[in-house]
Amino acid sequence: MTDPLPPVIQIHDLHKSYGPLEVLKGVDMIAPRGHVVSLIGSSGSGKSTLLRCCNLLEDSQQGEILFEGEPVRWRGTGLHRHPADKAQVMRIRTNLSMVFQQFNLWSHMTILQNVMEAPVTVLGHPKAEVEARARALLDKVGIGDKAGAYPAMLSGGQQQRAAIARALCMEPRALLFDEPTSALDPELEQEVVKVIKALADEGRTMILVTHDMRLAADVSDHVVFLHQGRIEEEGPPDVLFRSPRTDRLRQFLRATEPA
Ligand SMILES: Nc1ncnc2c1ncn2[C@@H]1O[C@H](COP(=O)(O)OP(=O)(O)O)[C@@H](O)[C@H]1O
Ligand SMILES: [Mg+2]
Repeated sequence: MTDPLPPVIQIHDLHKSYGPLEVLKGVDMIAPRGHVVSLIGSSGSGKSTLLRCCNLLEDSQQGEILFEGEPVRWRGTGLHRHPADKAQVMRIRTNLSMVFQQFNLWSHMTILQNVMEAPVTVLGHPKAEVEARARALLDKVGIGDKAGAYPAMLSGGQQQRAAIARALCMEPRALLFDEPTSALDPELEQEVVKVIKALADEGRTMILVTHDMRLAADVSDHVVFLHQGRIEEEGPPDVLFRSPRTDRLRQFLRATEPA
C-alpha cells in the first residue's frame, strides 16, 4: 500500500548561495511521512544549510520546496527570491521543529517554561493543556523531575532532551535535528541517542544531520551523503554503509570510523 498522504518535505533542485559562494548546487530530497532521513557529509558540505532551507530559516535562489505537497510560494527570483506568503512560512516553520547542536534553551526560563513557551505564545494553545503535554513529554524523555530547574542546572544530555521535548510540544509534522549529539560527552550522547531511537520507532518523521554513523545506520530509512553541496550518493543505510559506490563516500566513511 502506498501512503496516500504526500511526503512531509520534498525538495527539488535546490540551489542556495551565500553571496558568491554556492553552497547547495541542485539538491533533491524527500522525507516521506513516518520516515527518518539522515544527512551525512564532511563539515562544510551543506548539511545545516539544507536543513535550514527546509523550514525556510534560509532563503534559496532556485528550486522547489514542498510541505505536505504544498509548494512554497515565492516572489522575486535568484538572490531576490523570498517566500511570498508569511502565513505559509509560519505554518511550515511551526510544523518542522528544529533541535540544534547547542540546545538553544532560554537560560532565564525553567525547563517547563522552555517547553511550554512556543505552543502557548506562537500557537495560542491553552496553558493548562500545554502544561499537561509538556510534563508528559518531559517524563517521556526521562527528565520529568527537572521541570522546575533552569537549563544551567542540567547536564548537556538533559538539556538536549529538554530541547527535544520542546520541539515535540509543538506537535510538529517532522523533527529536524542538526548534530544533536555533537556537543555531548560520549556517555551523555547515549541518553540522547536513546530518545532519538524511540522517536524513530514511534514512526516520527525526522531529518537527522549527524556525524554518528552508528545512529544513522540504526534509525534511518534513507541516508543522503552530501559532498560540496551535491548529493554524491544516497540509499538505504545497509546498502550505503556496507557497499558505498563512490570513492568519496568510502573515504568519508573510513575517516569517520570509530577508533
Ligand atoms: N551564514 C553564512 N554565511 C556565509 N557562508 C556560510 C553561512 N553558513 C554557512 N556558510 C558556508 O556554507 C557552507 C556549508 O555550510 P554548512 O551548511 O554549515 O555545512 P555543514 O553543516 O555540512 O558543516 C560552508 O562553506 C560554510 O562556510
Ligand atoms: Mg552543520
